[in-house]
Amino acid sequence: VSDPRPIGVFDSGVGGLTVLSEIVRRLPAESTVYLGDNERAPYGTRPDDEVVAFSTQSIDELVARDVKAVVVACNTSTAVALGHLRRRYDLPILGVVRPGASAAALATRNRRVGVIATPATVRSHAYFNAIKEENPAVEVYEHATPAFVPMVEAGRLSGPQVAVTVAEELAPLLGERDAAGEFVFPLPPSARIDTLLLGCTHYPLLRPVLATAVGERVAIVDSATATASALAELLSVNGLEAPGSSRGTAADAGHDGHDRPVDQAGIPIHVQLTTGDVDRFRSIAGRLFADAFTDVQGVELGAPVR
Ligand code: DGL
Repeated sequence: VSDPRPIGVFDSGVGGLTVLSEIVRRLPAESTVYLGDNERAPYGTRPDDEVVAFSTQSIDELVARDVKAVVVACNTSTAVALGHLRRRYDLPILGVVRPGASAAALATRNRRVGVIATPATVRSHAYFNAIKEENPAVEVYEHATPAFVPMVEAGRLSGPQVAVTVAEELAPLLGERDAAGEFVFPLPPSARIDTLLLGCTHYPLLRPVLATAVGERVAIVDSATATASALAELLSVNGLEAPGSSRGTAADAGHDGHDRPVDQAGIPIHVQLTTGDVDRFRSIAGRLFADAFTDVQGVELGAPVR
């Protein structure tokens, strides 16, 4: 069994391209349609009802384009709206919180995990709950780092200023460094995390500077990688893999009654839709991901679903 239809990937803006990158890397035979609601991003500082309404409207658009499954790549949308979305659509919907939470729960040795995310994600305690479900003995320290999203979108991923901002934002989780650069003890309990979970689409782009800031004793886990693995599993369990993927066979191609999104040569197609300015999306995506995603098109969603 195989299914050549594309996977829908939704995010509030460009950050979800970190998840899309991992999906394309992990599942090279799959086609994708990505929708970034740039017009209304950021979501992370919005009230819950707006996040739910805007996410619903965006995913309606993906579903109308006959996707076979939807990945909610936005942590804020997953944290706030996933239950609502799963009730609304009868196709598999995968969020980023559970895959990231389970990877973090398996990574920690001292059962202390720090989670950094947007204010709305932290307010929802979705990561706290998901990690506790995996292992109730894990202490979870959630911390909002609202300075990171604007910084990444401005293309600032490294350099001394970025390092200072990152150190300041992480200080409540890590404690202060002394003159020799060692963390000063005694610290609040949260300082002794051994795992840092990146609970926001943009944060994997700051991974090198985050790794330097937390030091080598802290493992960094990101939801993007974990979600791509969870998606591979989901497609396999549901018989939704594209023809030509490791388990689908070439003979499946074109025999399942669906329109084929692959081109004549059987190469997967990746389309990016944005509700915002197409050139701006292309330039931020180009700056952050080189030329990986260039088929950018504008989309209008109409009035929000309330
Ligand atoms: N995509 C959002 C997230 O992962 C970050 C950007 C925003 O706040 O919209 O939480």
